[in-house]
Amino acid sequence: MPQLASRMGQAKPSAIMVIAEKTRALKAQGRDIISFSIGVPNFLPGEHVYAAARAALEKDSGQYGSNRGADALLDAILGHFERSGVTGLSRRNLCVGIGAKQVLYNLAEALLDPGDTIAFPTPYWTTYADIAAIVGARTLLLPCPPEQDYKLTPSQLDAALAQKPKVFLFNNPSNPTGMVYHREEIAALAAVMARHPDTWIVLDDIYNRMIFDGVGYHNVLAFEPSLRDRTILVDSLSKTYGMPGWRVGFIAGPEAVANAMVTLNSNHITSIPEVVNAAALAALSGPQDVPASKNAEFAARRDQVYAALSAIPGVVCPRPQGAFYAFPNISCAFGKSHNGRMISNDVDFCSALLEAKGVACVPGSAFGDPLALRISYTCPAEQLAPGLQRFQEFIAELK
Ligand SMILES: Cc1ncc(COP(=O)(O)O)c(C=O)c1O
Repeated sequence: MPQLASRMGQAKPSAIMVIAEKTRALKAQGRDIISFSIGVPNFLPGEHVYAAARAALEKDSGQYGSNRGADALLDAILGHFERSGVTGLSRRNLCVGIGAKQVLYNLAEALLDPGDTIAFPTPYWTTYADIAAIVGARTLLLPCPPEQDYKLTPSQLDAALAQKPKVFLFNNPSNPTGMVYHREEIAALAAVMARHPDTWIVLDDIYNRMIFDGVGYHNVLAFEPSLRDRTILVDSLSKTYGMPGWRVGFIAGPEAVANAMVTLNSNHITSIPEVVNAAALAALSGPQDVPASKNAEFAARRDQVYAALSAIPGVVCPRPQGAFYAFPNISCAFGKSHNGRMISNDVDFCSALLEAKGVACVPGSAFGDPLALRISYTCPAEQLAPGLQRFQEFIAELK
């Protein structure tokens, strides 16, 4: 019997998707489920995006597209980066792919040989560890507990980079914690990065338009322009433009890296589809009021979630300032039971919560922190308060 490639022994399906599937199955059985599990925005793009897609369909060329991305789209992406303060790029610094996920996978292939090390803070977005495993890279995890607001400190980064990992991957605002690094924190981290020239810096900042409290988006290139030669910015239309299903992501980085990604595209995906290209172009060059117009709503939801979690004795949750996640430490529940069902860890907690109260959250172990769970608060508005109330009841009922 032929066997799968040994690398598949390292690969596992995304834990977030597993919970989403379980939730869908319970819903299909008619259960009243409130999902705090999936990380998708609760808005769709404007009509101009759909109009552009329809027009592209009407005059479909039926052809493959550019491996790098169509020129007009690349120009719109340059404009997008300029709006977030990253200037001086050209088309040759860019490459488009099927969402940030595929772009990150390509990047891992472009930058990491088997046995190379990739470092990133924990909690991390679950796919980072899975991609590293598939390409055979070692991970150097940098634990960032709630006592330090789930944020990496300059001294931690210094110690990590002293070990010369091939890649340092940094995500701001963070999925799963919703934490956002402030200006002075980014400046301090940038200074450390500048002292360690042997490491590629990958910035996954796809939530960079979803930041509250006037904190603003800051990135290390503004503080240390010398980092530009080895920094790759990853971005996506999924969250910013409410377009996760359209699957458009892109990078901006040194030409050699962008060219490597183009080569990989030429063998993996060829190009994004023509209709998707038209929709992406319309989103990037049309009105830019989304998601800024959504941030007030997200900040209000954050307040509601944070207030509910903070009111639960024993639950610890640093106050998120971006994206649409909160990441409470729920280890106070471990060793207790719910209706006779023992809660030994985060997975037990999330399973019991889903079955007893119909509230779906993602266990923190999916993000490298088994003491916590992730709440995504983009559910329909009318479900947020009841979902939080059920969460509070569940913990109050623990014995
Ligand atoms: C931090 C982070 N990076 C990348 C992605 C992937 O986004 P995309 O939909 O563009 O593949 C996600 C999606 O949840 C994410 O949270």
